[in-house]
Amino acid sequence: MRLFGPGLQTNYAIQMSFKTRHPEYLERIEQVLDIALPAATLRPTRLHKAMRYSVLGGGKRIRPLLVYATGEALGVAADLLDAPAAAIEMMHAFSLVHDDLPAMDDDDLRRGQPTTHLAFDEATAILAADALQPLAFQILTESAALRPHPITQTRLIGILAEACGSKGITGGQAMDVAAEGQQPEPETLEHIYRLKTGCLLRASVLSAAYCPPGTDINTIHSLERFIDAVGLAFQIRDDILDIEGTTEQIGKQQGADSAHDKATYPVLLGLDRAKARAEELRTTALSELDKLTVPTEGLRWLADFIVMRTA
Ligand code: IPE
Ligand code: IPE
Ligand code: MG
Ligand code: MG
Ligand code: MG
Repeated sequence: MRLFGPGLQTNYAIQMSFKTRHPEYLERIEQVLDIALPAATLRPTRLHKAMRYSVLGGGKRIRPLLVYATGEALGVAADLLDAPAAAIEMMHAFSLVHDDLPAMDDDDLRRGQPTTHLAFDEATAILAADALQPLAFQILTESAALRPHPITQTRLIGILAEACGSKGITGGQAMDVAAEGQQPEPETLEHIYRLKTGCLLRASVLSAAYCPPGTDINTIHSLERFIDAVGLAFQIRDDILDIEGTTEQIGKQQGADSAHDKATYPVLLGLDRAKARAEELRTTALSELDKLTVPTEGLRWLADFIVMRTA
């Protein structure tokens, strides 16, 4: 099997747009996640059911799509990308389960279904999230595709660990909770967004970017600036949808942010400035892709989708 260099999907990419092809990646990641999760019949069954409920209950799978689209740009075979894509999605699911807990955002609805702590109970939700986090690392360490590339494997473990710790999601969530009812400066708010949301999107792109040995450093830097802008825009769009979306569209309770007095971009600066900032970030992101000579059609499509999405 060919792990590095132009894979099948690169030729395929030239023929069909990412918009047309991305459902195949969605199917692919669904299967990888399904296989990686413990069976619901395995004891402790309640815990395993809660883990499966939290991961397999829908979701846009933006992070895995970013992994595959970056891999396409750099000619990495999809087999090698399955483990980082699944590991990052497990970590994302962990963050959502904790984010919804009464001690944090206290939300009832996620992906159109009761949040994990309501579908099960609080203790089970905490434990399911606790178990998803090490499962993410286990996926990376046990990947047969990654095993022949120990340096890449170690780097991917490091990228994921950094994205989730106190300098990443956990730090961002701590600042987010502390900012409730406060009016942080825009610069502080953007810092929170970069940590709580941007870091895992960044890990998605970097995991794929570091798969081929010796990716040009300028390419890596452009991809970093691309995803830093997209990551920030992603959270601003999420905040806009909390105001402008419907509960049905977003699969979350519309207006939950204001009900919980969350400090968000549109609340602090107004909807117009939030939209203008998201658009400005999209332009920045796309201009970074313009600097690259590799095929970036998938990443472009994802950037547009993230900034203009309605769900
Ligand atoms: C929600 O992420 C949490 C944020 C970082 C805003 P997504 O909008 O990617 O959630 P799913 O996975 O599609 O449900
Ligand atoms: C969540 O931000 C970021 C996470 C790390 C989960 P939000 O709290 O805005 O995400 P939603 O709106 O609940 O999905
Ligand atoms: Mg939150
Ligand atoms: Mg939340
Ligand atoms: Mg939100």
